[in-house]
Amino acid sequence: MTIHFQVPQEKIPAQGERSFLKIGDKSLALFNVAHQFYVIDDSCPHQGASLCGGKLEGKVIQCCAHGLRFDLTTGFLLNSTKLRVTSYPIEQVGELMFILINAGETYE
Ligand code: FES
Repeated sequence: MTIHFQVPQEKIPAQGERSFLKIGDKSLALFNVAHQFYVIDDSCPHQGASLCGGKLEGKVIQCCAHGLRFDLTTGFLLNSTKLRVTSYPIEQVGELMFILINAGETYE
């Protein structure tokens, strides 16, 4: 079952910004890159550092801890398919934004 989590309006980031979301046990980072939205787990797959506060360059987020860089469009480590941060689909209906999460992923 897929949960449609509605992002509160005040949590929808402006262009070039990001916001932190807590959904159940999950901590997520939501990015707005040129009015395109991307959401990933706020946990680096290397050693778990927060990615929300990382350095954003285009659609690439760089982890503050050891500098690994991830493509927000796929979640994969840049130029590799060996390491991946979980990313989630986003659905927009008018002004409303929903993050689609499999129920099994939320309440492990
Ligand atoms: S924890 Fe992110 S690069 Fe090491």
